[in-house]
Amino acid sequence: MSKFKTPLRYPGGKQRLTPFIIEILEANKIKGHYVEPYAGGAGVAINLLLSNNVEHIHLNDSDFGIYAFWYCVLNKTEELCRLISSASMTVEEWRIRKAVVQKCDKRKILELGFSVFYLNRCNRSGVLAAGVIGGYDQTGNYKMDARFSKDDLIRRIESIVRYKDKISITNFDAEYYIENYIPNLPKDTLVYLDPPYYEKGSELYLNAYNKSDHARLAKTIQREIKHKWVLSYDGVEDIVKLYQRRRHFLYDLQYSVAKVYKGKEVFVFSDKLKLPSKCSLIHIEEGMKSLVNA
Ligand SMILES: C[S@@+](CC[C@H](N)C(=O)[O-])C[C@H]1O[C@@H](n2cnc3c(N)ncnc32)[C@H](O)[C@@H]1O
Repeated sequence: MSKFKTPLRYPGGKQRLTPFIIEILEANKIKGHYVEPYAGGAGVAINLLLSNNVEHIHLNDSDFGIYAFWYCVLNKTEELCRLISSASMTVEEWRIRKAVVQKCDKRKILELGFSVFYLNRCNRSGVLAAGVIGGYDQTGNYKMDARFSKDDLIRRIESIVRYKDKISITNFDAEYYIENYIPNLPKDTLVYLDPPYYEKGSELYLNAYNKSDHARLAKTIQREIKHKWVLSYDGVEDIVKLYQRRRHFLYDLQYSVAKVYKGKEVFVFSDKLKLPSKCSLIHIEEGMKSLVNA
């Protein structure tokens, strides 16, 4: 179990990969910057920063709602925590939050950031497009506040904001970010990319890629990123093919959205990246089942 927790739940949240990413940082003597162009809940990044494994994290997400949440964590901390603390846990309130997220009014960033957070914590599997935990009549075994432990969530936010000066957040499309933001970072940087899944992506995220987007992204990553990078995806053949010239391996990891998505994941590595001598993905709960082309 990770020591520091992101306040956001995420389908396919990668927090449990933290020990493996630490091994990669150590093998490559990277202590400075850590970048996530597809940050989402940024579970790994938050863990790395709060355990002082890196000096600065750069979080980017093209979803304005997700950006709004991180913006409020860092810049409107008190107001956000007050809203969380006084949040009413009713289906009526849920409907209001949902309407705010759907409207996505960028001028009302606090209301939006809070509403994204509210749905993230009250929806099934944290999926923004999903329904409320317990159903609209709240007759399910779990009720909508099952994942909304106010004190704990506020504590998580407060521990992150202490590191405010070491966190950069942006709201770009990942490819723009790769081409225009990452090149300005120092050499002492690791980039970890966790794009929307190839299969099932559209069920989990509001902004999914289609086949040709994944193919274009593969070219952009392999052509443009000069820093050391790691990529994780669902391990389908089409994806493995797009990165076949890079070192990669498949592993099994079960997620909380197990019914929606379950199975092999693939890790791909940039050519210059040193792999840890003892590649111990065994740290990860389900362990590594197969090692291919490592
Ligand atoms: C697989 S999730 C990342 C999960 C994250 N690693 C975690 O542990 O929480 C993918 C994220 O990428 C974002 N995203 C989707 N398309 C994007 C794009 N073109 N550029 C940047 N971010 C994008 C989504 O909003 C989503 O938050």
